[in-house]
Amino acid sequence: MKPVKVGLLGLGTVGCGTVRVLARNADEIQRRAGRGIRIVSASARDMTRPRDCDLQGIALTADAYAVVDDPAIQIVLELIGGIELARELVLRAIDNGKHVVTANKALIALHGNEIFAHASKRGVTVAFEAAVGGGIPIIKAIREALAGNTIEWLAGIINGTGNFILTEMRDKGRDFADVLAEAQRLGYAEADPTFDVEGIDAAHKLTILASIAFGIPLQFERVYTEGIARISREDVVNAAELGYRIKHLGIARRRAEGIELRVHPTLVPHRRLLANVDGVMNAVLVRADAVGPTLYYGPGAGAEPTASAVVADLVDVTRALTVDPTNRVPHLAFQPDALADVPVLPIDDAVCAYYLHLRAADRPGVLADITRILSERGISIEAVLQPQPDEEVEDASIIILTAVVQEARINDAIAAIQRMDAITTPLTRIRVEHLK
Ligand code: NDP
Ligand code: HSE
Repeated sequence: MKPVKVGLLGLGTVGCGTVRVLARNADEIQRRAGRGIRIVSASARDMTRPRDCDLQGIALTADAYAVVDDPAIQIVLELIGGIELARELVLRAIDNGKHVVTANKALIALHGNEIFAHASKRGVTVAFEAAVGGGIPIIKAIREALAGNTIEWLAGIINGTGNFILTEMRDKGRDFADVLAEAQRLGYAEADPTFDVEGIDAAHKLTILASIAFGIPLQFERVYTEGIARISREDVVNAAELGYRIKHLGIARRRAEGIELRVHPTLVPHRRLLANVDGVMNAVLVRADAVGPTLYYGPGAGAEPTASAVVADLVDVTRALTVDPTNRVPHLAFQPDALADVPVLPIDDAVCAYYLHLRAADRPGVLADITRILSERGISIEAVLQPQPDEEVEDASIIILTAVVQEARINDAIAAIQRMDAITTPLTRIRVEHLK
């Protein structure tokens, strides 16, 4: 059988990684797919830039539309990133009857509902394994391998850049900006790295995971998002003293009232596997009713780990080229007409434990006032830490770990504590998850 013809948009980190993996493993891939998979044309902006892959035999063009409009192309591989242009190109490829493979989580999180509806009408597939967790086959695992389960919650480290920064800061005491620059050099970071640092990229990925886990439409705008830029070295040390590590988690939890969707720095007990996922590695812990907890771990970013997921999608799409569209795996795991209208809860309704770090005048009665404010609101304290203050400073650090409480209630307590005369700086609040 003739090789399937692929048109590639983007020759950057992932695009070139994919060209290399497809060439290196061509024979193995053909044995799996039943026919060869060949990139016949590729598009990038700068035709003079040297590329990190061998482009012999691939027709190159600066015009991405020429690729999606080429009648010979059967699968369009979108690896340019960004939103508007990517959306236009993907919709046009679908209109032209082509299948699409993409690693673009921003595109899927924001426009996936429209894109999948369009693809279903046209009878084509849009595959997006590489959009979450880099090389970890997490989409396939949740969408297919856990299909017999009701998924209760999932929690994951789903941004490689952020985890790399947190790990290097903790283990080597390195500077935030310096580690971010290295993540950019290694090809981990987004074109706009604030997406990584502010949790937007993780929120895109959580949007996708929640959809395929719970069978709800993609709702990026409802994800609560906090970044890692304000985590101080002092909080990392305090957390360690209390037996925790700070990780940037994406959490999706089904409750009777609705679904919690949140991305934020989180204290995780140091013995939990997730607390020990370091560097660019990602991991997603999924709790499902029949199987119980399962953990998926692997490289969350980088050229060839991501290419691994992209090529797996190309193989899947190639195998399904002759399958009746109604018999393909639904894009969002559940049949499109069976997606549920479950509300996403506001962050004030979230429930978890909290780490509070405040600086207060070092005088009698301050700790008693703080504990009174918490107990008046029914908030139990699990632990208190008051490191010996430096002799030169006049205020003292107080660290409190609370029991599980509703977010609105802790916010009310924080506001009251912050109003105390003795409190000298803004209080730091970090959520705590025990992941039991
Ligand atoms: P890069 O910035 O390395 O590459 C982007 C490529 O797209 C470049 O070759 C660029 O051309 C090309 N491009 C941009 N605009 C156009 C255009 N208008 N027409 C044609 N080509 C264009 O990005 P990555 O490879 O890192 O990321 C690609 C996608 O994969 C993104 O959606 C990203 O979020 C996702 N992803 C990335 C991962 C990673 O580890 N890097 C992991 C998982 C997903 P030129 O080179 O000429 O500028
Ligand atoms: N910038 C992303 C990350 C790439 O660091 O996780 C992988 O999606």
